[in-house]
Amino acid sequence: MSTSFTIEVHTDKEDSLDSLREDVLTGLTSQPKELPPKWFYDKHGSDLFERITRLDEYYPTRREREILETRSQEIAALSQAESLVELGSGTAKKTHLLLNALEKTGQLQEFIPFDVSEKTLRESAALLNQHYPSISVHGVVGDFQHHLPFLPQSQNNSPRLIVFLGGTIGNFKPKERIAFLNQVASGMKPKDTFLLGTDLLKNKARLEAAYNDKENITAAFNKNILRVVNRELQADFAVEAFDHLARFDQKNSWIEMLLRSTRHQTVHIGALGIKVEFAANEEMRTEVSTKFTQETVKNELDETGLKLSEWWTDPADDFALSLSHLCNSTILR
Ligand SMILES: C[S@@+](CC[C@H](N)C(=O)[O-])C[C@H]1O[C@@H](n2cnc3c(N)ncnc32)[C@H](O)[C@@H]1O
Repeated sequence: MSTSFTIEVHTDKEDSLDSLREDVLTGLTSQPKELPPKWFYDKHGSDLFERITRLDEYYPTRREREILETRSQEIAALSQAESLVELGSGTAKKTHLLLNALEKTGQLQEFIPFDVSEKTLRESAALLNQHYPSISVHGVVGDFQHHLPFLPQSQNNSPRLIVFLGGTIGNFKPKERIAFLNQVASGMKPKDTFLLGTDLLKNKARLEAAYNDKENITAAFNKNILRVVNRELQADFAVEAFDHLARFDQKNSWIEMLLRSTRHQTVHIGALGIKVEFAANEEMRTEVSTKFTQETVKNELDETGLKLSEWWTDPADDFALSLSHLCNSTILR
């Protein structure tokens, strides 16, 4: 059986450095200071995230897997997909459940993982290519903000299942989320379906514990952003002089991860020729992770021209997967 394995890279090193320079300049000269979470994910950061997914406190991955274990066949039957596109695929560990179910329908032709982390994408695409020799794997290295339009289109309008797992949608702030969903919807054809993983609102103690593990893996992941800036922009962040914090903000319904400067310090960012002062106890936000309800997911899908047709949760109601399609399509009930 013929199979192909290709990787298409849209993020060249210079563009990526320009974008990091811009984010660091904007983020470190704003008040309060903030850095965007995509800079966690160099190879080391992606490996740390993979360890987070196995922590006792970090329930989202386990819960999402439980839903996929029970619903993948139904998802495969409803989507009839010939092509599976995964946004922010990372190591694509849970994707096996969908690939197995879709392969059984006999219709699946190709898998298209999309991620900003090139090394992780290359490794996961190579592994998937070995596991599924009859499916062609076409990886795309790109940034959600700039490169979604470069995703390959469906052949002859054949159905695609576009998936965005892990609750990563929660890392966008409301306006960015709507812009992202609008882009996804505008790239969809009438036979396409969109499977979205969202973490659900729950008690504050459990939410905060999920981002404050006892082994300090999340702390190492959070501080990795400083190492990335040090390495890529010749900065001198004293990583040990920042504490990891995670707390729930009820008003915004999100967990925020922060780095708190343990003392007054001056950081030099060589590549930008600037120095940045941190006061003692000053906090810099590095990630938000929004927690949803069925209503908030439905409303945001509606707002971007997508119609929610299925809503599945794990038995504990911790996490949800939703399936949607274009409002003017009749593919799903
Ligand atoms: C929270 S992890 C989820 C990984 C995987 N989907 C899962 O469910 O375990 C987020 C993933 O999105 C990728 N990512 C983060 N920001 C991105 C961006 N701006 N563009 C493309 N991928 C991005 C990261 O490299 C990482 O693999």
